[in-house]
Amino acid sequence: MKLLTFLATCCMSPVAILFVILSLNPASSQIIEEPLLDEIERAGFLFFWEQADSVTGQVKDRSLAAGNPDPRNVSSIAATGFGLATLAIAHDRGYSNRYLIEQRVLNTLRFIKNNLTNVNGWYYHFVDMYTGERVWECELSSIDTALLMGGVVTVGQYFKDHAEIVALSKELYEAVDFVWMMNGTQFINMGWKPESGFLNDSWNRYCELMILLILAIGSPTHPIPINSWNVFSRPNFTYMEHNYIHFPAPLFVHQFSHAFIDFENLRDNFTIDYFQNSVTATRATKDFFLHDEEMSLWSYSENFWGVTASDTPYGYDAWGGPPLMGRIDGSIVPCAAAGSIPFLPQETIAVLKNIRVNHTAQAWSRYGFVDAFNPITNWTNPDVIGIDVGVTVLMADNYRNKFVWRNFMSSPHIQNAMNKIGFVPYQPVKQNKSKRIGSN
Ligand SMILES: *[C@@H]1O[C@H](CO)[C@@H](O)[C@H](O)[C@H]1NC(C)=O
Ligand SMILES: *[C@@H]1O[C@H](CO)[C@@H](O)[C@H](O)[C@H]1NC(C)=O
Ligand SMILES: *[C@@H]1O[C@H](CO)[C@@H](O)[C@H](O)[C@H]1NC(C)=O
Ligand SMILES: *[C@@H]1O[C@H](CO)[C@@H](O)[C@H](O)[C@H]1NC(C)=O
Ligand SMILES: *[C@@H]1O[C@H](CO)[C@@H](O)[C@H](O)[C@H]1NC(C)=O
Ligand SMILES: *[C@@H]1O[C@H](CO)[C@@H](O)[C@H](O)[C@H]1NC(C)=O
Ligand SMILES: *[C@@H]1O[C@H](CO)[C@@H](O)[C@H](O)[C@H]1NC(C)=O
Ligand SMILES: *[C@@H]1O[C@H](CO)[C@@H](O)[C@H](O)[C@H]1NC(C)=O
Ligand SMILES: *[C@@H]1O[C@H](CO)[C@@H](O)[C@H](O)[C@H]1NC(C)=O
Repeated sequence: MKLLTFLATCCMSPVAILFVILSLNPASSQIIEEPLLDEIERAGFLFFWEQADSVTGQVKDRSLAAGNPDPRNVSSIAATGFGLATLAIAHDRGYSNRYLIEQRVLNTLRFIKNNLTNVNGWYYHFVDMYTGERVWECELSSIDTALLMGGVVTVGQYFKDHAEIVALSKELYEAVDFVWMMNGTQFINMGWKPESGFLNDSWNRYCELMILLILAIGSPTHPIPINSWNVFSRPNFTYMEHNYIHFPAPLFVHQFSHAFIDFENLRDNFTIDYFQNSVTATRATKDFFLHDEEMSLWSYSENFWGVTASDTPYGYDAWGGPPLMGRIDGSIVPCAAAGSIPFLPQETIAVLKNIRVNHTAQAWSRYGFVDAFNPITNWTNPDVIGIDVGVTVLMADNYRNKFVWRNFMSSPHIQNAMNKIGFVPYQPVKQNKSKRIGSN
């Protein structure tokens, strides 16, 4: 598209320019609803810019959606990881002063290196955003450290001419002792607490674990055995005509790793195409809200569906389906559709557009979509949640520009992991139903 614009402006007659512009209309081009996606990304960037401490760079776990002053001061390391990737997107797109964005990235990495409490390179899930100290007696979290490293690696690749950013990115990734977190088993533990040691649960089943495993297998300093990729279970799940790897869990498990890792047109040793698996998971989710008997109580429709882990009227919950989890009540969680934009662009963007156009007063605020809302009861969650804003921004930009995919995947350590695992390119059989826009 950039090339076309270039050609159009320098080498073509006005008639040819008109033709190029017409041929880029939403129905025929890959990028549909470009202005909406850009608006969503800008609003999400504003969250990461305003709701982080400018000195430490640590991003709030949650804040008020309207951006009003909010004394909560707990940051989530995963939100900071999505934040780093969003800063790189904002720098690329020129959403704000590029020098200031670069300084924020630098401050964030310096603080993680010098001040954020760690054990063997792993970080606590929730920290005081000003001091970096552990709060709520939370665990050193393996998946949340991986999402933090997703951002750390992305900025290290994107700001490749900035020596200190590159050096800090390298140091932080190299410091993570992935082998230690296995505690002598075949699996990476979910976490560790100083009071009680390793947790009683491991990453042993397909879910959002892939970014953790790929960082661990690719680690230049503490690589884990490649066999770790082979041993996690891949539960076979069928819902209506959809057959995919899934277990009772909300849709985000099919999205978070994919925000950083580009699995498109690749398959592993098990001949599994994880991109297509997430396409199927998204289709199954849509069909669940449109056709499941339990859902017929509510007003879900073609352009109004999707719930994933979020705030609910009764607190934070891993609600969603299929299968039905939690007390679904007609609410919508916009990041369910947004986190799947690259998988089913037409269907997911239709939902986002409907919310943006028809539910503005209830569901659109300073930082974009609210985390969750219910048009039947008029309940609106007052907050946005960092990781939900993050997956929205990263996936919108991956769809438009493959930005985080290109940068994260350009790390030689990540490439090494993909090769060691045995990912090979292939051409998936195109499915007729709700075909990806722009493929072929
Ligand atoms: C952070 O919030 C806690 C709990 O509200 C409060 O006790 C503490 O003083 C706050 N810290 C700062 C630096 O504002
Ligand atoms: C980080 O740690 C360094 C060295 O201990 C200290 O000088 C600095 O003030 C700390 N920074 C913040 C933001 O707390
Ligand atoms: C793992 O860690 C826990 C707690 O730190 C410990 O009790 C257990 O023996 C360790 N080893 C294995 C193989 O689980
Ligand atoms: C750990 O999990 C196992 C299997 O689910 C359970 O039997 C055991 O009681 C748990 N141990 C602790 C300390 O929670
Ligand atoms: C999964 O289940 C479906 C439907 O029961 C079946 O057709 C398919 O062969 C199964 N796949 C695997 C890998 O077990
Ligand atoms: C491929 O998977 C099998 C198990 O299905 C495993 O034994 C083998 O080592 C794997 N190969 C690679 C290169 O990982
Ligand atoms: C807004 O709602 C109306 C009425 O339900 C619907 O016809 C229209 O398609 C919706 N707009 C969008 C952008 O989805
Ligand atoms: C829904 O909430 C909004 C904002 O609080 C209010 O203006 C509106 O009247 C409410 N609508 C209903 C049907 O309660
Ligand atoms: C698949 O798509 C082709 C071309 O659009 C159409 O002719 C055909 O009927 C479709 N097949 C099915 C099974 O929907």
